[in-house]
Amino acid sequence: MIEKNRHLDLFSNIKWGDKLSGLGNGLWPFTKSFYYGYRYNDPPYSLLLLISSSIGICILFHLDRALMILSHLGFFYPKNVWLYAGYRLLLLSSPFLSWGIFQTVISSSRRKDLATRLYDANLVNRRNQLPAYISDLPIDSSTRILKLTKASLPLKTFTENKDRLESTLQVTIDQIIDNKERGTVDILYGFGEMPKIFPLMERVNAVGRDSFIIGKTRAQEIVCSLKENPHWLVAGQSLFGKSTFVNQCVATLYLNNPDYEFLCIDLKGGIEFEVFKNTKRITVAGNIEEAIGELEQIPLMFEERMELLRENGCKDIEAYEDLIKNKKADGKNLKKLGRFVIAVDEVAELFLTSEKATGQDIQKTRDILSQVTRQGRALGVHAILATQRPDARALDTQVKANLSGIICYQLPNDASSILVLGNGRATDITNIRGRAILKRGPDLVEVQTPILNRDEINTLLADYRIDANSKGSEKDGPVLPTINNPTSKGGKGTKK
Ligand SMILES: Nc1ncnc2c1ncn2[C@@H]1O[C@H](COP(=O)(O)OP(=O)(O)OP(=O)(O)O)[C@@H](O)[C@H]1O
Ligand SMILES: [Mg+2]
Repeated sequence: MIEKNRHLDLFSNIKWGDKLSGLGNGLWPFTKSFYYGYRYNDPPYSLLLLISSSIGICILFHLDRALMILSHLGFFYPKNVWLYAGYRLLLLSSPFLSWGIFQTVISSSRRKDLATRLYDANLVNRRNQLPAYISDLPIDSSTRILKLTKASLPLKTFTENKDRLESTLQVTIDQIIDNKERGTVDILYGFGEMPKIFPLMERVNAVGRDSFIIGKTRAQEIVCSLKENPHWLVAGQSLFGKSTFVNQCVATLYLNNPDYEFLCIDLKGGIEFEVFKNTKRITVAGNIEEAIGELEQIPLMFEERMELLRENGCKDIEAYEDLIKNKKADGKNLKKLGRFVIAVDEVAELFLTSEKATGQDIQKTRDILSQVTRQGRALGVHAILATQRPDARALDTQVKANLSGIICYQLPNDASSILVLGNGRATDITNIRGRAILKRGPDLVEVQTPILNRDEINTLLADYRIDANSKGSEKDGPVLPTINNPTSKGGKGTKK
């Protein structure tokens, strides 16, 4: 560890950094360029191999010798067998060696150039030292990671000067990560812009099982699975895209998982989930009384599911799915057990007392959602909760602690951002609708979330509608799960 960081400590002093850039002539940076080049697939392999094989053909037909004689350099041509072998090896590997030397020279000059730019971006500590260059490597086709020493600067200094840094480096910065373990700052950047809109219509039917699309970074599309992140919080101030996000999640999961069932609770009078009304396998609750009625059925479903898993010796729904798939049950006709998703738009309304919801009702709701987020993963019951107000009064802290995935749109102040993300990052998200931060574990990634408008959802769900007037008459569509829909046992919502 000490050995690994030794050169970093030296680099944090710009004078040493300058001296060390002289190492460009040494072996270490050269080897490092090769190592990183190969590790991150940076060298233009096909071009280098093409040049190398052309040289091989020249050697085979002694064209190299002819060329040397023609240029009056024939006396350099090796006559000793060992010298000749070394000469051939050197010629064949020369494209790769040249590439390594080129990289070394570039990184050495980059180091000096970077110092000026960091100075322009105000990244100077009290001792007038600058963060020093460690490496600049590609992580995918259009994103690179620039590693710098921190030079005793707090991460805040880097994030506050992000705009300056972008302008002096002429790049777009996706993310600045404090790599505490290595004592470095990792800057993810690229040369393109983040997409300002990400239409989902063309992709929605091909997302894959148990998954939905989180969004696009400049370089890649991020897809998440409910298996990895079973429960989600969608936070952000008004009009940045929370409902749009939850709607596209429900639509994507619905279309790609014919055995899923949904309870959509929309406490703004049912407007946000209007598009899911009269749809098979989806129940929409449009007010607090309906919502409480539906949620009260959840513990019963938990019991049924637990019983089924216990009977079949499965520790969770995944083990149960495997059991069905592998037909290990010796001819036993196992019930299919689809996942159940509870989506709530403006969850704060569920946790606040009102004329229609007594303190007792609210406590019951809290307990149920808490149970869902604690035990739901194993039983295939998931929660996606959206809120404008992520504070402790509006969102139960225990429930919040169990939401492993977070999508956070712009928030008005550091306090709310810290509540959601653990730092003030959500206050400086660009003012673009659909622009958000994805938090999974400690990682924060800026994304443009997908958009699927109501007309598009209507088109996609057209084949799954049921006639609201004739209960039970359903069009052809996906198979319903055999586990009872809990909403059928007393829920007061819009039953489908
Ligand atoms: N991912 C997106 N890409 C582009 N535009 C978007 C996106 N998400 C939302 N919008 C636009 O922003 C508008 C508001 O979005 P939405 O209703 O989802 O916001 P919200 O956060 O739920 O607001 P509120 O808290 O007031 O309910 C949408 O009508 C749409 O035009
Ligand atoms: Mg909304």
